[in-house]
Amino acid sequence: TIPTYTLSNGVTIPQIGFGTWQTPDGDTALNSVKTALQAGYRHIDTAAAYGNEVSIGQAIADSGIDRSELFITTKLWNTERGYDKTLNAFEQSMRKLELDYLDLYLIHWPANAKQFSDWETINAETWRAFEKLYNDDRIKAIGVSNFLPHHLDALAKTATVAPMVNQIEYHPGQLQTETVDYCTAHDILVQAWSPLGTGKMLGDETLTGIAANYGKSVAQVCIRWCLQNGTLPLPKSVTPERIRENLDVLDFTLTDADMQTINQLPYIGGSGLNPDTVTF
Ligand code: A2P
Repeated sequence: TIPTYTLSNGVTIPQIGFGTWQTPDGDTALNSVKTALQAGYRHIDTAAAYGNEVSIGQAIADSGIDRSELFITTKLWNTERGYDKTLNAFEQSMRKLELDYLDLYLIHWPANAKQFSDWETINAETWRAFEKLYNDDRIKAIGVSNFLPHHLDALAKTATVAPMVNQIEYHPGQLQTETVDYCTAHDILVQAWSPLGTGKMLGDETLTGIAANYGKSVAQVCIRWCLQNGTLPLPKSVTPERIRENLDVLDFTLTDADMQTINQLPYIGGSGLNPDTVTF
């Protein structure tokens, strides 16, 4: 079984989650989530914007796994910000996922200053709806995604429940040190989306060399590196062998020297998305 982290509110969360960004709805999502659950993943990460909640809900229902053993995350899309719209969007996601409670709900992207002069108010109102759903016991934990320290600081001005998670792009070459340090100081768990740099890290020579020393793949080294830095990796794959491979990271430990080497790798690519300037 996969070890867990404990969130600031005491909820436990499996340390590796199954990512589903860019996994098409229909058979691809259905079969990859089924494979993941069979392989031992118990933590599935989706989002309304991924468009695959229906198939993921079906895979969960078909699995027959006890609901209490699963940890399911989805996210509020940007068009649904605000108090009332958030409450409605949550119910829609729950219907699609066929769930009666959610483990973790995240604000997918902060409203940013480039797009909205009243971005702070928009995020505060969205968060107020998250707090209501949390206080009503519809959700076990609430958090944000792609928030930078200034977005978190602004949210803290009106929040009565602090976010338990911040899910950010995190992989070798993209450490987001300021955001991670902020989260550590505020007891916010960092989840790593695209821990393989959307696949761009897989050919890196340094990582290839390190991986060979452990008899592991570069993907496994990236996932292990996330864990040893205290973050929660969410590797995405639709390929059965890779889905299994990405969970097989509990039988080796990267040395401090190798952690240092990987921590110092330069940026060679990732999604290229910047929370301060995205316009979707
Ligand atoms: P696929 O889904 O076709 O198997 P990230 O999680 O950083 O966004 O990376 C996802 C990308 O990396 C996808 O293109 C995925 O391909 C690929 N990928 C995932 N796991 C592995 C692996 N173990 N080995 C090689 N490529 C992988």
